[in-house]
Amino acid sequence: MKHLLGIEHLNRDQIEQILETAESFEEINRRQVKKVPTLKGKTIINFFAEPSTRTKMSFEVAEKRLSADTYNISVSTSAIQKGETLADTALNLQAMQPDALIIRHAVAGTPHLLADVMDCAIINAGDGFHEHPTQALLDAFTIKRHKGRLDGLKIVLIGDITHSRVARSNIHLLTKLGSRVVVSGPATMIPPGITAMGAEVEPDPIKAVVDADVLMTLRIQNERASNLLFPNAREYARFYSLRQELLNYAKPDAIVMHPGPANRGVEIEDSLMDGGRSVVLEQVSNGVSVRMAVLYLLLGGTQL
Ligand code: CP
Repeated sequence: MKHLLGIEHLNRDQIEQILETAESFEEINRRQVKKVPTLKGKTIINFFAEPSTRTKMSFEVAEKRLSADTYNISVSTSAIQKGETLADTALNLQAMQPDALIIRHAVAGTPHLLADVMDCAIINAGDGFHEHPTQALLDAFTIKRHKGRLDGLKIVLIGDITHSRVARSNIHLLTKLGSRVVVSGPATMIPPGITAMGAEVEPDPIKAVVDADVLMTLRIQNERASNLLFPNAREYARFYSLRQELLNYAKPDAIVMHPGPANRGVEIEDSLMDGGRSVVLEQVSNGVSVRMAVLYLLLGGTQL
């Protein structure tokens, strides 16, 4: 494999290889000098056509810690503003001979389009409501560090599954590695066909979380929803907010996850977001190690 476009087409061995490689980079991220020459001389372009804090910054941190030369292009300051197509933009970037392009875009399939027209490695940093592969990898890495395994765990995803690329990538990954994935949320937020991906559906969040090892709540993706999906935020929070009442039904050592950014008080209560069972900020830290591993495997070390 030359690109990382999604989790759907990775096999178990490839996923495990990335997670194992990320373990070795974890040690580098704890050193006083967090830099290795692994990707010295490699050119990486970050193209985020949608807002991002965690993914954009952690790719940049990962690239710099691996000594790559990194460059950023944004829609607002590029010639896309003058009417240039995305494909022409890609061809012009390719003419500068980068080794990799990291792309986040609101349109599902954009990374695949770029992979067709560019020679460099393409890494999907989130495309519409399709996939967010490095998020799923860092989530799996975080779960494995806490639970020691993924096989046989019950992992519950709560909230806006319909518009969530994080949910799709996580369902692909976690089911391939032997976890049981249950999704819960309002009927308007559970897409048809989700069971064909291997997830179970339990509309009642209290029933869903019974004996769960992991509770992961997802952001309401208002920017991707064309209709009103619930009456109001207070009504949503009453049933689906991740709160102590729900956590009480999970296993005593269950962990609390959120990919961010979070709408506090709507998807998750402050007491859980900031509580002792929350691994939300660990997810962010682990994102650097996982993205270093992906860059290393695609550009520097063994090919995926
Ligand atoms: N989890 C995630 O993708 O966050 P950002 O939008 O901040 O990158």
